[in-house]
Amino acid sequence: MGVGTTVDGTGRVSAASADAFRAAAARVFVALDFPDQGEALRLASVLAPLGARFKLGLELFCRAGPEGVGALQRLTGPLLLDLKLHDIPRTVGRAVRALAGLGPWGVTLHAAGGPVMLREAVDAASVAASRQPAGSDGAVRPRCLAVTVLTSLDAATLHALGVRTPLHDQVTTLARMARAAGCDGVVASPEEAAQVRDATGPACLIVTPGVRPSGAARGDQARVAAPAAAVAAGADYLVVGRPVTEAPDPEAAWRAVVAEVAGAAARS
Ligand code: C5P
Repeated sequence: MGVGTTVDGTGRVSAASADAFRAAAARVFVALDFPDQGEALRLASVLAPLGARFKLGLELFCRAGPEGVGALQRLTGPLLLDLKLHDIPRTVGRAVRALAGLGPWGVTLHAAGGPVMLREAVDAASVAASRQPAGSDGAVRPRCLAVTVLTSLDAATLHALGVRTPLHDQVTTLARMARAAGCDGVVASPEEAAQVRDATGPACLIVTPGVRPSGAARGDQARVAAPAAAVAAGADYLVVGRPVTEAPDPEAAWRAVVAEVAGAAARS
């Protein structure tokens, strides 16, 4: 029996808590940051049957390409393709059109690319989705999520980059701009989720990486929070990488994160 299920007085697993666990699992994207597709497939084959969702980033995309996305998605369902696109509007639009043809759950773009780039991406995703046969996964437009300020950056680094706006205000500014350009949501650190929610309203999807269960190493992340804190701050989805992928028992680590999300969701 997993962390996400409980047993009632008769020894039966509570259906309500199993439902809550499933709902929480759908809010957690495991980052498949592996150097090769085999490792990603191995982890996905353990966690996908339990209801886990997955995010594929630059490292694996550069190695496995669109074919790798297809192979993984047959196992995992639609992925969050976190390629953080940032280029001139036409190039990003064309890249999004190509990615949308793979039928992902969502794609990411750097908000710093500006409103025209973001709008071009949203339009390209819509066009690509409308060309998919009705009923196919691709018929749903992939969500376009704008990365605000990377969770690996801190205020000093942002200042060194020449950005004079305080970090938290910069996140809010970029989030508002992304929503005005038609993006479905934003990627922001758990530290900024509450202010992004205030600035963008209830419909904006907020995805928070930089999630660290207590005791887990920060790695290169500067702005981190525990899963429950991210949910309490208003995150719709959480991204968790190394605390699961590098755990001695990834399934147990994933279950612990999901159980914490389920608990926080029940309280909020
Ligand atoms: O291992 P860790 O939990 O730090 O992984 C976080 C994942 O989220 C990585 O795949 C990283 O690329 C991604 N990400 C991030 N910060 C953002 C957007 C995405 O860390 N702002």
